[in-house]
Amino acid sequence: MTQKLTIRRPDDWHLHFRDGDIMRGVVPYTARQFARAIVMPNLSPPVTTTALAAAYRDRILAAVPEGIDFTPLMTCYLTDGTDPDDLARGGGEGVFTAAKLYPANATTNSAHGVSDVERIYPVLERMEAEGIVLCVHGEVTDDDIDVFDREAEFIARHLRPITRAFPQLRVVFEHITTSDAVDFVTGAGANVAATITPQHLHINRNAMLVGGIQPHNYCLPVAKRETHRLALRVAATCGSPKFFLGTDSAPHLRRDKESACGCAGIFNAPNALESYLAVFDQEDALDRFEGFASLHGPAFYRLPVNDETVTLERADTLVPDTLDLAGEEIVPFHAGQTLGWRMVGQAGAARA
Ligand code: DOR
Ligand code: ZN
Repeated sequence: MTQKLTIRRPDDWHLHFRDGDIMRGVVPYTARQFARAIVMPNLSPPVTTTALAAAYRDRILAAVPEGIDFTPLMTCYLTDGTDPDDLARGGGEGVFTAAKLYPANATTNSAHGVSDVERIYPVLERMEAEGIVLCVHGEVTDDDIDVFDREAEFIARHLRPITRAFPQLRVVFEHITTSDAVDFVTGAGANVAATITPQHLHINRNAMLVGGIQPHNYCLPVAKRETHRLALRVAATCGSPKFFLGTDSAPHLRRDKESACGCAGIFNAPNALESYLAVFDQEDALDRFEGFASLHGPAFYRLPVNDETVTLERADTLVPDTLDLAGEEIVPFHAGQTLGWRMVGQAGAARA
């Protein structure tokens, strides 16, 4: 039985850092495990311009602990009024790695998102020309569409048309939750990929709704039925370069989750690698973990793979019930559970 696994240092291709004290509290967790992260722009107010993104990047860098090498990769929050020239400039200057499409009101801080996807077609055309990646929160928001069907509906109404209209645009279908999404991405061209979160590999909707409402298992898109979870596990572990790691770690304070209108989001940053690795171990796919965690993402984003390595060993990791975050309590994913892997030490030197 494999006891130790050394892989290229991974990256997190979908992450929420927030801002201020919360950001300063969560950055060290991610920087300990990952070399880079695609940082989501859904702050309040959102990160909609090159200038806002550059300033936010500086604040994140100031929160990286001494001695740790970590690079935040910034995204532009698309709105009905996005200026394609500013986006292109930000891309050219290396400030923006991607732009994020939130359908208006789909999730946390998305009120300023895009009200009608077709309205931003001129921006998507420019992104295709400039080689800027489009990250998509793929859910329709119409009241008459069941929350469990919103991802599949988004594919039919918006994602398929986008990929037809802009065949060269690189699109990341973020945090996919359904077999419909797996099938769509698998059947699309090499310019269409997806991120998969640890929570959607571990839990189905029962974890959110059985035995009382479980707010700490609530995120968006919500976990679906078991058949979908199984399809996601196959996609993540099959070795396809179209699927890669994106935690969607989304910190909300315990009191904001355990409330009459609890926030969507799961904070998984402290033990993200151990959580994913447990899945690959259960699927007998340890040899495919490096591809998913460290190789497929850089290839898609056309960035170099990381030189350093990280090592994980088979050992118990007890995930605390709660963590302190800026003097408040936050409940991490897997709270109170024991994971069978543990990251050892800091990132190591490059392999020969
Ligand atoms: O669960 C989620 N939380 N899904 C999202 O799309 C946003 C995120 C957040 O920002 O809290
Ligand atoms: Zn997210």
